[in-house]
Amino acid sequence: MRGKQANKQAMKQGSELAGLESQPIETSDEASLVSKGCFSTSVRPVRVAGLGAYVPEKVLTNADLEQMVDTTDEWIVTRTGIRERRIAAENEAASDLSLAAARRALEKAGVSPSSLDMIIVATVTGDMPFPATASIVQHALGAERAGAFDLSAGCTGFIYALAVGSSMVGVGVCDTVLVVGVDVLSKITNWKDRSTCVLFGDGAGAAVLKPGGEHSRFLAFDLGSDGGGADLLKIPAGGSRKPITVEAVQAGEQYIQMCGSEVFKFAVRIIVQATQSVLAKCGLKTTDIDAFVAHQANIRIIESAVARLGLPPEKVVVNVDRYGNTSSASIPIALEEAEREGKIRPGDLVVVVGFGAGLSWGAAALYW
Ligand code: ACO
Repeated sequence: MRGKQANKQAMKQGSELAGLESQPIETSDEASLVSKGCFSTSVRPVRVAGLGAYVPEKVLTNADLEQMVDTTDEWIVTRTGIRERRIAAENEAASDLSLAAARRALEKAGVSPSSLDMIIVATVTGDMPFPATASIVQHALGAERAGAFDLSAGCTGFIYALAVGSSMVGVGVCDTVLVVGVDVLSKITNWKDRSTCVLFGDGAGAAVLKPGGEHSRFLAFDLGSDGGGADLLKIPAGGSRKPITVEAVQAGEQYIQMCGSEVFKFAVRIIVQATQSVLAKCGLKTTDIDAFVAHQANIRIIESAVARLGLPPEKVVVNVDRYGNTSSASIPIALEEAEREGKIRPGDLVVVVGFGAGLSWGAAALYW
């Protein structure tokens, strides 16, 4: 009862602050207050209600790359596990990929765009530096009630966006949130640099978050950052530190630069650490995991980490061979595929782990 009164008071103060005449709240139903944007009196469970994914049509194989740079299919497959990746068309941008994935996720969840309260797009390759790609997606979907913003946490972006979106639903600021992980790294890749151009691909994945239940809900997140590693993976030019100039473009500083071996060591260490940490937060063990989805950057990173965690291969979702590293999109694309193929079933304990530029990392444990 006190909580409901507090909610009403908070709404009253909010509208007064906005200079609006305060409207008395007619209903005493807390769920109704929550859907109007008030904080709930308690955190409620949150689940993934539907997933969608989209990859561009164009396939770029290792044989194609052999024609472009000094590399071989054998080198790429043995060092990375990647056989092919998808590349966006010239006129395809992050919002186009996001829209296709979002529509599929909404359909799967049985949610109409007009029911969305918030859209979060995790990306480092938005359509433009601003406005937010999320706003472009919001308009294109016709989600007229939804707020929208982008989130930047490198390849960990989707996990951070899940944490933010599920928290918003959990405390009742929102009822229905669309989270998109999308990247079009082909547009910021130096296609003359063999050490990076063989790794990346384009794609998008989306998840609709709704109030959950006992057997279908997020359990815990583990999020982290070590900005001491910021220089290991970056685009030097194009921001406020070094705006784009002719000299910067001539030096190729508008493209991804990466110290691969350092990122590799970090990735293996952090997948193990974040997985153990997120499981410890909910009192579970690695043997409890039914399905494990790590950021799809390199098969050797995944294999080294899961060997250290002692996870059997049948519980580990892998699709890096077909899509390469799609950055923020890799985890939702892999989740969607695994669910569709029956590798993830309702009630399963699923652990997802991301890592990337920042350096950043994040893990989530959830009952599917
Ligand atoms: N084809 C042929 N030879 C190559 C290629 C290529 N495409 N790329 C590099 N080489 C050469 C190098 O020049 C080097 O030659 P050298 O010994 O004569 O100098 C040799 O191969 C070995 O290079 P390494 O960098 O030591 O190779 P490594 O086994 O470490 O593999 C790789 C490189 C695949 C990049 C690996 O370090 C890696 O996967 N790192 C992590 C990358 C990653 O996950 N990044 C993304 C995280 S965040 C995000 O998703 C944006």
